[in-house]
Amino acid sequence: MRKISSRSSIVKPSPQRRLIAKANELVRSGRVVYDYTAGQPGLPPDEELIKTFYENLLKDPFNYFRYLPTKGLDKLRVAISEDLKKYGGITVDPEDIVVTSGGVEGMNLSLISVTDPGDEIVLLDPTYSVYWDLAVYYQLKVKKCSQTIETGFQPDVECLKEVITKNTAAVVVVSPDNPTSRVLNEEVFKTIADLVIDNDVWLLYDEAYKHIIYEGQHVWIHRYSRTMEKLISINTFSKDIAIPGFRLGYTYGPREVINEMVKLKGIFSITSPVPGQWFAYQALTSGIKEKYLSKVLPIYKSRRDAAYNAFRKYLPEAKVWNPPASMYLFPDMTPYLERVKMNDIDFTFKLAEEKGVVMLPGSIFGECGKNHLRVTFVTQPEEKLEKGIEMLSEFIEKLEKKA
Ligand SMILES: Cc1ncc(COP(=O)(O)O)c(C=O)c1O
Repeated sequence: MRKISSRSSIVKPSPQRRLIAKANELVRSGRVVYDYTAGQPGLPPDEELIKTFYENLLKDPFNYFRYLPTKGLDKLRVAISEDLKKYGGITVDPEDIVVTSGGVEGMNLSLISVTDPGDEIVLLDPTYSVYWDLAVYYQLKVKKCSQTIETGFQPDVECLKEVITKNTAAVVVVSPDNPTSRVLNEEVFKTIADLVIDNDVWLLYDEAYKHIIYEGQHVWIHRYSRTMEKLISINTFSKDIAIPGFRLGYTYGPREVINEMVKLKGIFSITSPVPGQWFAYQALTSGIKEKYLSKVLPIYKSRRDAAYNAFRKYLPEAKVWNPPASMYLFPDMTPYLERVKMNDIDFTFKLAEEKGVVMLPGSIFGECGKNHLRVTFVTQPEEKLEKGIEMLSEFIEKLEKKA
């Protein structure tokens, strides 16, 4: 076979994709599957929005399936700017917004635009697994600060002061977080804001879950006003209006960075999915986004509580935190995994195979995720969530008897 490039093979296949494929395979083979893997919203998008979208598409198919300028539908960028004003009180010129094919394209384009191979970036550990892969792919050196359950997953400010220096090209912050679901507190934000200004560092703020909050509030970084010149904000429509399959998000930031991103996007994907852009435009301008969120958030919250209580009941030795936001529990399973003498990756594959319970191993989110599980709580109703967690505990008991 002709060669596969080293720049491609440097990225290792992710256990996450293999486990998701495993869950699909189990479903196809007729097994009952308890699937806690995907960062997928638990309910379909708003029904009224789907109907309006469909009617409008039939009336004007040309405009729904044409190319659009790479930066995105003008009307959508204006609607995003108004939405940011409404929810965050933040002023963003529509010209400083690029519509992307999901948040993940925003992550890629931002990193390519502001880093070179060999540059240093700062990640919090654990963090969204794709950032580790991107750091490898773009040949970035990673400095990190850990975030653990003991501090409610808040990184230590002293560590941040140590790692964010004049040598740092960019700091990546995810809040609300994946996998920990914490919202960074004011002290941490203030420290990061000061450090990126003082050291002239880009701040990549991933706000994918900014509307998925049950208690407390999202931190809008423009409160620390000088950070706006350093801020590249990465957003998605996958979570709030629940259209991950439409592949749509947006990034905003300083004009020179956005223009670089648009230039690159022109050679990667030309334009983001156009039907999705119309869909998002309708969601933002009709009041439906707000209505939809007020319907789904109480459902997600009740599912969160059910999953949390099930962990407390069936796996009392797990260290588990009931998070204020996002979609995931991130229990530390160390006592159990030590007793059954397995690492989290082997454990999750065996659990999937034997019980049809599919959860993600914490170590794919960073070293600090070792011995944890990432458990999506929004995608299944309460009884099913609880049942799968009960089955997890039965599985551990069986392994413990054998060990
Ligand atoms: C923190 C975070 N950022 C970005 C994304 C990317 O989402 P998408 O590409 O679907 O917009 C995800 C997906 O789960 C995520 O958890």
